[in-house]
Amino acid sequence: MEPKIKQVDSMAANRIHNGFYGQDIISVSQFDRARLDYILGVGNEMKILVERFGSADLLQGKILANLFYEPSTRTSSSFMAAMLRLGGQVIPINNVQYSSVTKGESLPDTVRTLESYADIIVIRHPEVGSAATAAHYASKPVINAGDGVGEHPTQALLDLYTIVEALGEVGGLKVAMVGDLKFGRTVHSLTKLLVNYPVEFTFVSPEILRMPKDVLDVVAASGHRYEEREDVHEIIGDVDVLYVTRVQKERFTDLAEYDMVKDRYVVDPELMSRAKERMIIMHPLPRVNEISYAVDNDPRAAYFRQMRNGMYIRMALLAAVLGKA
Ligand code: NCD
Repeated sequence: MEPKIKQVDSMAANRIHNGFYGQDIISVSQFDRARLDYILGVGNEMKILVERFGSADLLQGKILANLFYEPSTRTSSSFMAAMLRLGGQVIPINNVQYSSVTKGESLPDTVRTLESYADIIVIRHPEVGSAATAAHYASKPVINAGDGVGEHPTQALLDLYTIVEALGEVGGLKVAMVGDLKFGRTVHSLTKLLVNYPVEFTFVSPEILRMPKDVLDVVAASGHRYEEREDVHEIIGDVDVLYVTRVQKERFTDLAEYDMVKDRYVVDPELMSRAKERMIIMHPLPRVNEISYAVDNDPRAAYFRQMRNGMYIRMALLAAVLGKA
């Protein structure tokens, strides 16, 4: 059953039924191949638009509330840039300590407040399920920009876009994810998104940071093969995509445990010398020590392209949800 269409635009003429209009974007499980192709295609158009013209007036008169309860550089500023480049405006709430949240205001009331001013809400919050909660109370569309250790669907979409851009197609690729697979929401979403394609998964992590069972269950249920490893050297020569993650210090209850695993994997020129010539190394950023700066100029380093692609994909999502794609 399609979720109900939320309040977006009173002009029926603007209602383009692309399957995104008026919808919340909470989880990658909302995406099938047709929807993925659509968003990647619109993302491409947004890239061309920005390169040729810089901006457009597609979302003129629309307002985005950008509500961030957790730190962010790329996700929050790329959503802002996406809205501004499409001619819309943004209410940025990056410092919830200066908002009524500090006075004890609940998430539902904060969302009800913001939707009385804005047409769409982007939310990042430390609790799993928070974006779904916000969407439940909101009559305007809500986009999940990271719900704790749960999901980060817009990151997975920009990751997918970057893979296709770099390697042409996804089918047949060997994808290895490395680092904090337990707490890293980006790898949870990317894994669940990639089951839409015939890929092989390798999950490389210390024992205490293994991929959660619910994500592995999705992989297995979709008929995909996966391997779990601890040593990145054993697999580096064989992979097409090496997706590196930061150990999520803020999610640890025991910092001694964090210290034990924080520098387990470091991608450096020595490791890259064992990798295939045609492969990419990805990272959602921010990095701490996982990728040495000496790798940045390697043509296989795709992490700076990822962050630029984030703006195009978020432009595509905003336009699609607001019925203007
Ligand atoms: C990631 C996040 O917030 O989950 N960053 C991002 O959105 N690009 C990854 C991280 O914080 O390590």
